[in-house]
Parts: sequence; C-alpha cells; structure tokens
Amino acid sequence: MTEPVAIPVAVNSDHDQKVDPWDVQGAVVDGKPQPINYNKLIEQFGTKAIDQALLDRFERVTGHKPHRFLRRGIFFSHRELDHILTKFEKKEPFYLYTGRGPSSDSMHLGHFIPFMFCKWLQDVFDVPIVIQLTDDEKFLFKQDLTVEQCFKFAQENAKDIIACGFDLNKTFIFSNLNYVGGTFYHNMVRIAKCITYSTSKAAFGFTESDNIGKSHFVAVQATPSFSNSFPHIFGSRSDIPCLIPCAIDQDPYFRLTRDVAHKLGYPKPALIHAKFFPALQGSQSKMSASVDTSAIFMSDTAKKIKDKINKYAFSGGQDTVELHRELGGDPDVDVAFQYLTFFLDDDEELERIRATYKTGELLTGHLKARCIEVLQHLCGEFQQRKAEVTDQVVLEYMNASKPMPWAVEKGLVKDPLLSAFEILNLNAEQAAGKGGKGGKKKVKKEKGGSKGADAAEVAKE
Ligand code: TRP
Repeated sequence: MTEPVAIPVAVNSDHDQKVDPWDVQGAVVDGKPQPINYNKLIEQFGTKAIDQALLDRFERVTGHKPHRFLRRGIFFSHRELDHILTKFEKKEPFYLYTGRGPSSDSMHLGHFIPFMFCKWLQDVFDVPIVIQLTDDEKFLFKQDLTVEQCFKFAQENAKDIIACGFDLNKTFIFSNLNYVGGTFYHNMVRIAKCITYSTSKAAFGFTESDNIGKSHFVAVQATPSFSNSFPHIFGSRSDIPCLIPCAIDQDPYFRLTRDVAHKLGYPKPALIHAKFFPALQGSQSKMSASVDTSAIFMSDTAKKIKDKINKYAFSGGQDTVELHRELGGDPDVDVAFQYLTFFLDDDEELERIRATYKTGELLTGHLKARCIEVLQHLCGEFQQRKAEVTDQVVLEYMNASKPMPWAVEKGLVKDPLLSAFEILNLNAEQAAGKGGKGGKKKVKKEKGGSKGADAAEVAKE
C-alpha cells in the first residue's frame, strides 16, 4: 500500500482494476493484464484531472515552472488544489501533510517520489510540512511484524526522509507509536466518533475477522489533516487547511477525512495524487522492498544501480541491433525510459531520447547508460545527505516539545508553548463563541446548531 509502486500482477481470469491502500491491480481483459487506467480512477474516485489551465495558474501564482512530476502528469489528479493556490495568492496560511508506512528499513526509488515532490513544494510555497510515520498501521496490517520492529523502521525511515532535504525550521516528522496523545488524540477520537464501522468496512473492504484496529485506523491517518492536532506549530488554530500529496491509492482515507472535516467544522484537506512507480521488471509486476532485484534502493551503490538496470530493467528495444535499427524501440514500455521521465529534468533531452529511441537511432544500451547516470547521481547525492543525518538530527525533526521556528516567526504559535491545559481553555472559549485567533473564522455552523471542533460530540446521530 503506501508506496507509490505496485502494479498489476497477472491473474488468469478477467476482472476490473482494483486500487485501494492495500491492493493495486490492473484489469485483466481476455486473460491479458492491463496497465492501470488512471482516467477511470479519476472518474471512480470523483477527483479532478490536473489540466494545463491549472498548471498555468500554478506558475502564475507561484512564479515557478511546475515540477517535472506536474509537467509530465505523474501527479495527475487533485481535490481542491485550486483552493490552496488561492490561499497562497492571498498569503493565508496552509501546510503540507504526507506520510509513510514504515514496513522495512530501507526506502526505494518509488518511496522517494512523494517526498521529493513535497520538499519541492515546501520550498516553492514556504510552508510547514508534517510527516506521519504510520508504524501503528504496519503493526496492525502486517501479521508478522512486532511493535518494536515497526517503531524501529519508523526511526530508520525518518533518516531517509530527512535526507530528501526538508528544512528543519518547518518540518515535523512523527511516529504514531510515539506521538499520539494531547490535542492530536482529542481530534482522533472526535474523528472516530464520526465514522461508523459500516462506513469504514465499505470504504476499505474489511470483514468480520479483521482486527478492530484496522477499521479504526482511518481516524489515525485523518488526524494530521487538521491543524490543531499540532499545537507546537499552529497553537490552537483549527482553521488552517492542508494539502496532501500522496499516491492515488491513499485517496479512500482522505475521502472519509473530507466528510468528517465537514462534520467537525474544520477545513477539508486538499489533495494531489500521484501515479504508481514501475518496478524494474515493468509495469506488469510489483516492486517490492523485500525482493532486491525488483527495486532500486536509495542506498544502492553506483555499481549495484548499473548492474540492476542492465540486468533487470525491462526493455522496449528489439532483440538485435539490426532489428532495433529497423523497427525502433517502444519507450512506453521501456523501464529505463520510464525512470528518465521521473528523474531527468531536461524536457528537451527527454524528448530527444524518446524520439530517437522510437526511430531506432538510439540503442537500448545507450538509453540504459543515461538512465544509470541519472540514478547514480540522484542516489549518490541522497547518500551524501543521509551520511549527515545522525540520531541527534532525527530527534530535532521529531521534537514537538518546542515551537516550530517557522511558526513562531509567522506568529502562528507562541514561544514558549502553551500548555495542554491552556490550549483546552482556549478551545473552550472558542467553542463558547468568545473568539480568539482561529476560533472566529473556523466556527461554521453545522445543521445541528453545534459548532467547531466538538460538533460531533454534541451532535448526536
Ligand atoms: N498509509 C500510508 C502508507 O502506508 C502512510 C501515510 C500516512 C500517508 N499518512 C499519509 C501517505 C498521508 C500519504 C499521505 O504509506
């Protein structure tokens, strides 16, 4: 789940495509596995395509050429991204939220994509990011993992995430197993109270024999979408929306979150969705962190990267040079070419490679060599940054006991922090309509007449 990798595993009988947080399978038609149909997902999930008009607006508003992931349709769908751009235009606060389910101690290229994109968005927007490590989720969903293992993976993954280059002054990384409590937990139970077992079951396909932690987990993943879950960043303000970059398989969580937001009088999170990242063997097989030959890990040496691409990357080229010169290659199924679309920034070079590969002028060996170069560079830089991430550095990124410097500067949170009780009192005042920062704007009356965060607590079904 989680990782924006995956893709159809061949199954013999025909069926529709299936995409949820635990399963990503393309359709099978006449016994043939099909690639994921992303347009169909947009329709099914009720999201919107990211079109040229939105990209043009992005560039106009931010003054930045859209990231290649946007230019090339890798982040292809959204919910209310336009709303976030309006916030940016008006210089109103918002934040980014993303996460990772730590199921192993090393991250591969596919895991890296949303974080790379988030780091870029953090720089472009100059906003804070909260990064949830769902070690609890992995424990609940993976039968053979222990709490200790999941917690340890979270700490290890935090190092990889930090090595993506996030700014310490505006980044908060947390492990659920460690952080859940305080006002974060207040929101969690508010959310849980809004979601029935049958809703969770319908959204995720649980059965009677699934453990009860699974059906509750949606409340845990929803909670970071609301700003007052993070008092050291946003104080008691609950009116600050977030933008969630994630792979499209995570959308079911946030569809429910958006419904709940409405009930609680919180702003709905906006979303931007990515496609999946192809495995070395091509988009017909699944990249797996536990199968070394299916994935390139961020920690792979230059030599290992070279060997894996040369040996395993599925080629769209012909069997012999003569045939290739005659018939040309197919960039659409060629994994080395696909990886270049993710990681080679130069649009002109990419187009040249595509065109010359297609005519047969560019040979598979040369295409692979360019891909190897790009990946070695990417992973090499990453490894250099990671070498500097000590345990002490990790603690700093995960520290919620002091106000986030960026937020102090913007006047969102006081230095020193309010105590949990002071926050509670503030919340109580806001709920009683006395206002206070955030309270005034936030409190949108729900039908039942209750308002603000505790709407759900008051509004009995
Ligand atoms: N469930 C996600 C995973 O397994 C982790 C996650 C938590 C996440 N919160 C998120 C991913 C927000 C994207 C956005 O990887």
